[in-house]
Amino acid sequence: MARLVVISNRVAVPGGDGGSRAGGLEVVVRATLKRHSGIWFGWSGKVSTSRKATTQTIEHDNHSYVLTDLTEEDYQEYYSGFANRVLWPVLHYRLDLAEFSRRDLTGYLRVNEHFATQLTRLIQPDDLIWVHDYHLIPLAKALRERGHANRIGFFLHIPLPPPDILTALPNHERLIPALCHYDLVGFQTDNDAANFARYLTHECRLASRDQRTFTAADRTVRVDTFPVGIETAEFARLARRAVQSPFVQGVLESLARRAMIIGVDRLDYTKGLGLRMEAFERFLATCPDWHGKVTYLQITPKSRSEIQEYAELEQQISTMAGHINGTYGEASWTPIRYVNKAHSRTALAGLYRCARAALVTPLRDGMNLVAKEYVAAQDPNDPGALILSRFAGAAVECEAALIVNPYDPEAVGAAIGQALAMPPAERRERHEALFQTILGNDIKFWGDRFLGALTRTRGLRSWLGRVSA
Ligand code: F6P
Repeated sequence: MARLVVISNRVAVPGGDGGSRAGGLEVVVRATLKRHSGIWFGWSGKVSTSRKATTQTIEHDNHSYVLTDLTEEDYQEYYSGFANRVLWPVLHYRLDLAEFSRRDLTGYLRVNEHFATQLTRLIQPDDLIWVHDYHLIPLAKALRERGHANRIGFFLHIPLPPPDILTALPNHERLIPALCHYDLVGFQTDNDAANFARYLTHECRLASRDQRTFTAADRTVRVDTFPVGIETAEFARLARRAVQSPFVQGVLESLARRAMIIGVDRLDYTKGLGLRMEAFERFLATCPDWHGKVTYLQITPKSRSEIQEYAELEQQISTMAGHINGTYGEASWTPIRYVNKAHSRTALAGLYRCARAALVTPLRDGMNLVAKEYVAAQDPNDPGALILSRFAGAAVECEAALIVNPYDPEAVGAAIGQALAMPPAERRERHEALFQTILGNDIKFWGDRFLGALTRTRGLRSWLGRVSA
């Protein structure tokens, strides 16, 4: 019986700490695996003290979670180094923040080789293999070199910039063409897929009739768009229940009937938190009528704190929140509540439902699932308004949101005023359009579409029917 083998850097082990981390990848892979039996392979999240990485398997509910530790050197060079200091900024269009070192690239390739060696012991010839995200670009090549002819798909959860930016990545010619060892390469938006197609055409000189199927040596790689979704109906149900929880009721009580604006983001420079604070300040400066009547709750779990830019950002954002509260606050009112604690999915669902508006203003984001979760959580009779960056992948589907340019605090400030003053009929109309869109492209549809497309890459007869749990 064919199995699904999912490979990603992070693995959400049942009962582990994945639930409280804000990472979108774990949430969507976990939801997809609910419907398929198989293996989820990746990093354990632990750094081993010995020089040799150890691997362990946890069996749970028809799935095997195979977790490998990283050595300190691997962690520094592969995860903290090449993945997070080079690929993350470059793929988010931030060449100015990329810190390239040849040693980190060597470490990144070494860990991918190590993962391939571990996987070789697990993979069976008719397994379908699905690799996720920028940590694992060369993995298919490493698997092919070990003789695996399986169908292998790759999905990039973050953006892919145009060739002009991608080619500034040192050694891009060694790394990016390695994606051609996959049978299917999936992106969040048509823009990302077109950027990759342009790279293959102009940098690799690969032929294609439709900019979707490319032939490289003896292989064919298919490029397509699969905008990631959420468990829409389930999240809506969760939000309805969560609003009654003592935690959410306690927050509501503390707001003393003030309107709430919510933002939920990992502490990351791609999220545009500084400019967002500035936008909120502009709103307060231009709309004095709202003073004392609105609270902006920004939930921002810290991440990657060992990287200098992230540590500096921590300092910068808390200083800004303090400055705004000091300038506009009163003894009885704090305009911004800035919280670094991670919150459970249930707590967030309840808070989203109570918020009059959500501020989702990344400078660049693959998709941004907070935008979709906020929409799913709303009461359809009295929904809040979504303020969404045009540079989040979600903006393609969420046309009915208030779409803003996150680099323009004045315009975002005006959108905050517009969201808070929006008449109920307009809020309902916008929400209905948004909700129908995210219901139609939920996580089940996303997983089925990707796996269906991967199955068809070499004309395999319906694989989905054979492995669905
Ligand atoms: O796709 C981006 C991602 O992998 C998401 O899961 C999440 O936004 C983030 O990166 C998590 O980062 P890290 O695994 O470095 O904590």
